[in-house]
Amino acid sequence: MKGLILSGGKGTRLYPLTFTSAKQLIPVANKPVLFRVIESIRDAGITEIGIVVGDTADEIKAAVRTGHRWGVNITYIPQEAPLGLAHAVKISRDFLGDDRFVMFLGDNVIEGGITPLIRQFADSEWNSQIVLTPVPQPEQYGVAELDENGRIVRLIEKPKVPPSNLALVGIYMFDEHIWEAVEAIRPSWRGELEITDAIQWLVSNGYQVYPYIHQGWWIDTGRPGDMLEANSMVLAELKPHIEGYVDRDSEVDSRVTIEKGAEIINSVVRGPTIIGQNTRIVNAYIGPFTSISHDCVVKDSEVERSIVLSHSTIENLPARVQDSLIGRHVVLKRSPIRPKALKLTLGDYSNLGLL
Ligand code: DAU
Repeated sequence: MKGLILSGGKGTRLYPLTFTSAKQLIPVANKPVLFRVIESIRDAGITEIGIVVGDTADEIKAAVRTGHRWGVNITYIPQEAPLGLAHAVKISRDFLGDDRFVMFLGDNVIEGGITPLIRQFADSEWNSQIVLTPVPQPEQYGVAELDENGRIVRLIEKPKVPPSNLALVGIYMFDEHIWEAVEAIRPSWRGELEITDAIQWLVSNGYQVYPYIHQGWWIDTGRPGDMLEANSMVLAELKPHIEGYVDRDSEVDSRVTIEKGAEIINSVVRGPTIIGQNTRIVNAYIGPFTSISHDCVVKDSEVERSIVLSHSTIENLPARVQDSLIGRHVVLKRSPIRPKALKLTLGDYSNLGLL
């Protein structure tokens, strides 16, 4: 089997972070979502992986390179515009040939691996397998309607009135019949070639498409709130270790990971939390469900349930930073200089919640 990861698209719902970074490279628990996707495919024994890339191709290539570090071979497949998930499959035909393959959306995070799922499909005669999970707001996803025997009746992309609460998770398995399907479908109302329509085509034309109901958590990291939720879930699963320095005046509990070169001075750190390489935490409180990336400084401040990306500084703040997503090279400081006012340099689409 081969793997196909979709890592194009614009990530508009994560502006301003995605002005300067591909959304699939935003880290949860200090590791980009895309790296987690590569690892789950590799763990299922697949070593030939194609990555569909768009405007952020250069950045993704610089981060992933040949795939050597995971023991896989990466082939990059350029997509001229985000014309839909089925379009991304269509342009990957040369890479995939007639092999069975798993397609994984590069911004999805799922509990546990996908190894049993992939084995099941690899050993079967099925033409396709999809992953479904119950969600509270199905209208935001592709939705499946099943009959009383659990067989797929209908699939619809982001329906106004969802026929069930079963959303399509961004993991799909196909055999060569998908080529007929992606040629047969037409763009949807949003102008995209929908993979949901291609799978519906397989169902309508008598091919065997099996649903697998995923019981654990699954997060499509489209919005800042989703990123924070994924971060919390992954941190809770992380096996903690301490490689950095913790001074005697600090209190660090057993669910905290402190990476190499990090320093915790006179601070309280509550897990699950990760502190990245060469980051300094001084006279600070870092609350649960927080990921501070590498080369940051948090001093005389409190941070809880947040993601802070690399090279950022949080200093001397009068209130706790909570439920926040903070980009790279950000400086958040209380300024002693008069006039006593907010002095801001915010990028387009920044979002500031003041007390
Ligand atoms: O996350 C699950 C959902 O993903 C499914 O329930 C939906 O049925 C499916 O259509 C998809 O919906 P989204 O609207 O969330 O897809 P999004 O546009 O966010 O794209 C998902 C990933 O695929 C993302 O990493 C960007 C990449 N992509 C997207 C498009 C449209 C591409 O590489 N090329 C594309 O043309």
